[in-house]
Amino acid sequence: MLNSTWSIRRLTPSPSLSPFFSLPTTNTPKLRPNQTPFRFMASTTQLQQQQQQSTSEFLTQRPYHPPTWASKLNPIPSHAFSLGHFPTPIHKWNLPNLPKDTEVWLKRDDLSGMQLSGNKVRKLEFLLADAVAQGADCIITIGGIQSNHCRATAVAAKYLNLDCFLILRTSKVLVEKDPGLTGNLLVERLVGAHIDLVSKEEYSRIGSLTLTNLLKEKLIKEGRKPYVIPVGGSNSLGTWGYIEAIREIENQVQNGTIKTSFDDIVVACGSGGTVAGLSIASCLSELKTKVTAYCVCDDPEYFYDYVQGLLDGLEAGVNSHDIVKIENAKGVGYAMSTAEELKFVKEVAESTGVILDPVYSGKAAYGMMKDMAENPRKWEGRKIMFIHTGGLLGLYDKNEEIGSLVGGWRRMELDESIPRKDGTGKMF
Ligand SMILES: Cc1ncc(COP(=O)(O)O)c(C=O)c1O
Repeated sequence: MLNSTWSIRRLTPSPSLSPFFSLPTTNTPKLRPNQTPFRFMASTTQLQQQQQQSTSEFLTQRPYHPPTWASKLNPIPSHAFSLGHFPTPIHKWNLPNLPKDTEVWLKRDDLSGMQLSGNKVRKLEFLLADAVAQGADCIITIGGIQSNHCRATAVAAKYLNLDCFLILRTSKVLVEKDPGLTGNLLVERLVGAHIDLVSKEEYSRIGSLTLTNLLKEKLIKEGRKPYVIPVGGSNSLGTWGYIEAIREIENQVQNGTIKTSFDDIVVACGSGGTVAGLSIASCLSELKTKVTAYCVCDDPEYFYDYVQGLLDGLEAGVNSHDIVKIENAKGVGYAMSTAEELKFVKEVAESTGVILDPVYSGKAAYGMMKDMAENPRKWEGRKIMFIHTGGLLGLYDKNEEIGSLVGGWRRMELDESIPRKDGTGKMF
């Protein structure tokens, strides 16, 4: 749809599809009759009394009680949805060419779900509880054309019976064209997310806040109740996702699932929320592990400021420079890979079985390994936990570039005279 004030190209799910079963005309989230509305604030005393983490069923809402060490942060969310498969495993990662006595372990947040895989689901557990508490009937969010966050939001919204509206940023030459079905787009379009395309130029001229507000106002005029989630789910509420992840790691270390302690946590940074949660929680908890983030867009100074804003929004009273080290791993540009980076992704997959995404964890791990090669003394003897934040679907977007690196194939040699020995089934 195009007019002078509303110049975002919209792809709506095909109206001609005959529904398998009829859906209500407005997708109002169904709250259980005894479900209390989301109380964003809860008193510290209450929270200190309720320290044990509640175990909850998938897709249900649970009351949230923060760890004692986080109870001074403010505001504290009172509820969260159970959307991810937690705790995610931690295992030793036998990367080749590590400095002397250095160990790298991998926290598998790429295994936090299937369609909901990756780091974003941790933030969405809190953000969608807030959306439901506010009576939203749809979610708006924004990101790059292969945004993992947008894909996870689209799926999680549908699980909760909410519509999802995505604003996706693409190149000027592609903005008027069908975006296709590669990677995250296939999932988004299958779950019926409404997609508005904007060009990179429009995005940088107008900004994500104004773009989402434009869509919000439009939907309100149409009688909808939209809830806006910012880029990457990175606001102070979403930050609780990775505060909670530190509690999870602490539990895994304390209950003996992991028989080691860690000197460093290393993670990719794209919109800042993950690293904000990890660094404040590591600093407040017993873990006290040094957090290093490799940013894949903008630059470290931008992220020190952005993370500071998230910390201030939680009244954390700390300086981002004191609790996290942010390094640059952007390379040639956001979501753009060099041949060397892709070769690294391929070598890691072949030597360890772990598939890194090219946009986030691939660049962060590449940055970490490069620093280890250049400054081995800095890393010698350290125990590092690298957090794999998911994004596998983004790799499909690199098919052409990665094609020449992947394993070959051959026609199986079969002699005409080989007899069949088992059964009669043909599988076709
Ligand atoms: C797969 C993946 N890893 C890491 C990140 C970075 O996390 P954050 O946006 O919280 O900095 C993102 C999103 O930006 C992502 O999609």
